[in-house]
Amino acid sequence: MQIAHSIEDLRRLLQNAKQRAFVPTMGNLHAGHLELVKVAKQTLPEAMSVASIFVNRLQFAPHEDFDSYPRTFANDCALLEAQGCNILFAPQEKDLYPEPQVFKVHPPAELADILEGAFRPGFFVGVSTVVHKLFNCVQPDVAVFGKKDYQQLMVIQRMVQQMALPIQIVGVDTLRADDGLALSSRNGYLSSDERARAVELSGALKQMAANVRSNLSRNLSGEASKAIAQIEEQAMQSLRDKGWQPDYLVVRHQHDLSAVTQFSDAPLVVLGAARLGSTRLIDNLEV
Ligand code: PAF
Repeated sequence: MQIAHSIEDLRRLLQNAKQRAFVPTMGNLHAGHLELVKVAKQTLPEAMSVASIFVNRLQFAPHEDFDSYPRTFANDCALLEAQGCNILFAPQEKDLYPEPQVFKVHPPAELADILEGAFRPGFFVGVSTVVHKLFNCVQPDVAVFGKKDYQQLMVIQRMVQQMALPIQIVGVDTLRADDGLALSSRNGYLSSDERARAVELSGALKQMAANVRSNLSRNLSGEASKAIAQIEEQAMQSLRDKGWQPDYLVVRHQHDLSAVTQFSDAPLVVLGAARLGSTRLIDNLEV
């Protein structure tokens, strides 16, 4: 695996690549990230596979964990190399942001100011801006993202479509630990007691999905708002009762994350974010 620490180095390494398959990350890699690399390589077997590691200050609010975000570069390199990744792009902050980034990508409020965006103002501006910039550096044919960050995947798909970027976006199912906890770099913040309880978030989402399915089977069409609100409130209360501080637990349409007001055969997703102690976890399940 070759490592590029600047945009210039990366462009040199890629100059003869006919196709590029890209996995952007913030490092501290786990099996979920390696799965994204595997899918990138499978999607375009002839392509040069490129992963990036860059902890993007733009997507962290001042009170969030930018400084303490785990940085495990040597281990990440070994994992990527073993996965057969061809190029790692690991720019310095001064290379990607040589001056304050004043041109930014602003995704539409209806997609980016809800859910994660409501609790993390500016998050999707930071994500969209860095992903657009990384796309310009790598110029991928395919880019692969995990479905664990479901809303992020929707925002990026929309950006690519609206900006006519010639990139195929692939979403990959979330990898989970044996007990069902979604793999995440932030799981490392959990104490051993919290780690044992962390599965309660995916448990709550599973219960919500089961409740949605049983409502759907009884009401194939018709008014859904009340039933959905009840399912969401029950799930919030059950997590609060277990000592969590939930931000949201919601049922939404998969394609645009809009609220569900009518039962129909449109595919749905349940999404949740909640704090356990000082760690904020997110997860989702397609219904
Ligand atoms: O999902 C992530 O790790 C980050 O949000 C991303 C897409 C690499 C942008 O910094």
